[in-house]
Amino acid sequence: MTDTSKYDALFSGVIGQDYELLNLICPLSTQMSQRVGASAGEYAMQANGNLTVVELGGGTGITTLALLTASDSFNILSIDNEPVMQDQAKKHLHKWAQEGKLAFCDDDALTALKNLPTDSVDIVASAYTLHNFLDTYRKEVINEIFRILKPGGQFINGDRYGLDDISEHTRIIQEEVSRYFKVLIHINKLDVLEHWIVHLFSDESENHVMRESVALKQLRETLATDWKSMRWSPL
Ligand SMILES: C[S@@+](CC[C@H](N)C(=O)[O-])C[C@H]1O[C@@H](n2cnc3c(N)ncnc32)[C@H](O)[C@@H]1O
Repeated sequence: MTDTSKYDALFSGVIGQDYELLNLICPLSTQMSQRVGASAGEYAMQANGNLTVVELGGGTGITTLALLTASDSFNILSIDNEPVMQDQAKKHLHKWAQEGKLAFCDDDALTALKNLPTDSVDIVASAYTLHNFLDTYRKEVINEIFRILKPGGQFINGDRYGLDDISEHTRIIQEEVSRYFKVLIHINKLDVLEHWIVHLFSDESENHVMRESVALKQLRETLATDWKSMRWSPL
C-alpha cells in the first residue's frame, strides 16, 4: 500500500463519502490536508508537551483528522461558522472530542480569534479556508493569527493561491473546470457540479483571490512585527 492509499483508507473510513467525492473532484486538495497535518506533526516533534492548535474552517473534518493523526500532543480547537459543515465534523470525529483532544467553536474565524488570548497558541492550521474570505476580512484574520501565536509558534496554511503568472493560472483553472465536468457528469452529480462552478466564480473574484506574491508580502509584513514563523510550501 502506498502512503496515499493508506491515508485514503483511513480518511474515507472516518469521513466517508465526502472525502471520496472530494478526492475524485480534486485529489490535490486531500493531499493538501495531509500536508498541513504532516507539517504540524513535524513542528510537534521539535516541541515538548501538549500543544494548543487552532484550526480555521474545519469543514467536514478532513484536515482536522490529518492534524489529529499527526501527533498525540495536539489539543485542537476547530472553528467553523457553517453548522452544516461542522455538524459533519462533530459526527465524524466524536471519538477525539470525547477523549478531550478536540473541541469545536461555531463563531466566524475573526470573532473566534479575537476571543483568544495573546501568545496562547502553538499552531494555527488551516486548509482551503482563507481564500474564501474577503481580502479586508482576511487581513484582520492574519493580524489576529500572529497575535494569538506564542513566540516561535507556527501558522500553517494549505490553500488556493492565485499564480502571479495569470496565463498559467487561467490554464490551471480551465483544467480544473474540465475535471469537474468529466467527473461529476460521469457520476451524475449535477447539483454538486453547479455548486462547484458557482463557488469558483467567488474564488476567482478580485476581492477574494490570493495572488501569491501579494499574499506572501502581506504575511511577511505581519511577521516582521512579530517573532513567529510560517510554512510556505505550494503543492
Ligand atoms: C473549503 S472548506 C475547507 C474545509 C476543511 N478545512 C478541509 O480541508 O476540508 C472551507 C470551510 O471554511 C468555512 N468558513 C468559511 N468562512 C469562514 C469564516 N469566516 N469563519 C469560519 N469558517 C469559515 C466554511 O464553512 C467551510 O467549512
